[in-house]
This record gives sequence, C-alpha cells and structure tokens, in this order.
Amino acid sequence: MTEEPAPAASPPLVGEWVRACGLQRADALALLRACAGISHAALLAHPEAPLPDSCAARLRQAAQRVRAGEPLAYVLGWKEFYGLRLQVGPQVLVPRPETELLVEFALQHLRPRQPAEVLDLGTGSGAVAIAVAAQRAHARVHASDRSAEALRLAQDNAARLLPAARPGGPLQWHLGDWMQALPEQAGPFDLLLSNPPYVAADDPHLAALRFEPALALVGARRSADGLAEIRALLVQAVPRLRAGGWLALEHGWNQAAAVRALLRDAGLRQVHSLRDLAGIPRVGAARAAP
Ligand SMILES: C[S@@+](CC[C@H](N)C(=O)[O-])C[C@H]1O[C@@H](n2cnc3c(N)ncnc32)[C@H](O)[C@@H]1O
Repeated sequence: MTEEPAPAASPPLVGEWVRACGLQRADALALLRACAGISHAALLAHPEAPLPDSCAARLRQAAQRVRAGEPLAYVLGWKEFYGLRLQVGPQVLVPRPETELLVEFALQHLRPRQPAEVLDLGTGSGAVAIAVAAQRAHARVHASDRSAEALRLAQDNAARLLPAARPGGPLQWHLGDWMQALPEQAGPFDLLLSNPPYVAADDPHLAALRFEPALALVGARRSADGLAEIRALLVQAVPRLRAGGWLALEHGWNQAAAVRALLRDAGLRQVHSLRDLAGIPRVGAARAAP
C-alpha cells in the first residue's frame, strides 16, 4: 500500500505567530517588523495574513535568541536612545533609558551656541557623546573607552548620525583607562559625563545580563560594592575639570548616598542626585570650586 504524501504544513498566520511565539507582545511586534516588514498597523488590519515563507525561518531564529535571554537590541542590531537609532552589538552595553538623564543634565548646563569642552567617559556605543553632540553643535565633544571594539562601533554611529561638519568639530576619540586615554593637553573640561561600570562583582543580577560585556557592567577593577571604577575615575578626572565645571555620573539604584560621599571626598561642591522617571536617584552630580 502506498502512503499518501503528508500535506505541506500551511504557513502560520501572523496573528497566530504573535500569540504563540512565547515572547512579550512588544518584542514579538518588533521582530515581526524587522524580519518580515510587517507593521503593528498591518498586523491589526490583517491578523489572518500568512507569514511569508521567505522570512519565517529568520523570524523563528530571532525569536529563539530572545527566548534564550539575549537582549532584543542585539537581535535587532539597534537601540533607540534620545531619539537616535544607535547600532549595538555584544561589544557594547545596550543603552538604557535612565542614561538619558546624563544627556538632559548636559543640555541644561550647555547653552545652545556655547563653545565648551565635554567628555563622555566609557562611551560604549557612543550614546551619551553623540546625543550631546547632536544637540549642542558648538561643543567640542570627546569620548573615551577602554574597549577598542566599543570605540570602533561608537565611531561608526557618530559617522552615521552626526553631520560631517559641525561648529564644535568632529568628535574626539580616546582609547584607554579613564583619563589616561587622553593627551595631557586635552581639557580642562566644562562637563564630564559618565555611565561607568557599577555592578558589584557578586551581584546576582549579573546572570540575567550575561550577554552584555563584563567590562561594561563590573569593569576590570571588580569590587564588592561596585564602586571601584567610580573611585578610580574620580581620582583621575576631577583634576581635569575646569573651575566651576560640572561632573555627572550614573550609578546603581542603591548607590546614591555612597556616590554623593565620593563626590564630596573628591573636593566637589553642590553635590546632589538626579532621579529617573521612577523617582529613583540614578545620577550623582557635582561642581568644581569656581
Ligand atoms: C556601563 S557601560 C556605558 C556605555 C555607554 N556610555 C552607555 O551609557 O550606554 C561602561 C563603559 O565603560 C567602559 N569602561 C569600563 N572600564 C573603563 C575604564 N577603566 N576606562 C574607560 N572605559 C571603561 C566599558 O567598556 C563600557 O563601554
């Protein structure tokens, strides 16, 4: 007896795929758009449309990566930060919304046409440096990182997102450990910004962050309180701040008091914390004596 050939499996329908893929709806919609070019509006209008064969395998693989815990931004290859679409990959931290606080702080302290020297320490994807440079065309913006791969990606992002000619000149890139990366003649700086590594070496949350670089999360100076890189940064950076210049540092949700104490110990004035949208103090800011 000859067996009937099994009927070819019909392609899944887009609405069914979104319900059954095992992802948060927002992540599923982002993948559907990136892999199949199907927008949220198209999904709502035609949930019964078949998923095109040409993208089903790509979509399955992308969904599998997200289910395995990889950040959606690495799977998509980009992350939006302060209205800019930054390329990201496993060589850099995925920029977080709370880091936009550093950009807002910078914009409050730099007038639109004011020439100023600004430095983003530990630039990663270039998020903070590029967002500030995009909004304050007259500022000379420097960016440093200890990771050569991160710095290359930041340079690509800047080349794509900033005008070729800006009054403040091109971004200045520096590879190395905090201020040791910079030539002696750079600065003094009107504004120092940093989202440094601040996760404690034994923090249990590190397991969930395993796809992101350890250098970005805990740094090379691993410490029990997560503050070793901030201590090293302050020792090197405060002497390069112009009189009256400002410094702002992102930190962990429970490190605000400790960071304010470090800023005072470094001889800075007007020490205060900035809160994120959830009301949690996430940035320590302070000023060099005028
Ligand atoms: C928390 S990530 C922040 C990246 C980016 N600024 C952002 O907010 O998305 C910290 C960055 O600091 C860099 N870094 C770590 N230790 C450093 C050091 N000693 N000197 C310079 N950069 C360092 C890491 O490579 C990483 O890119």
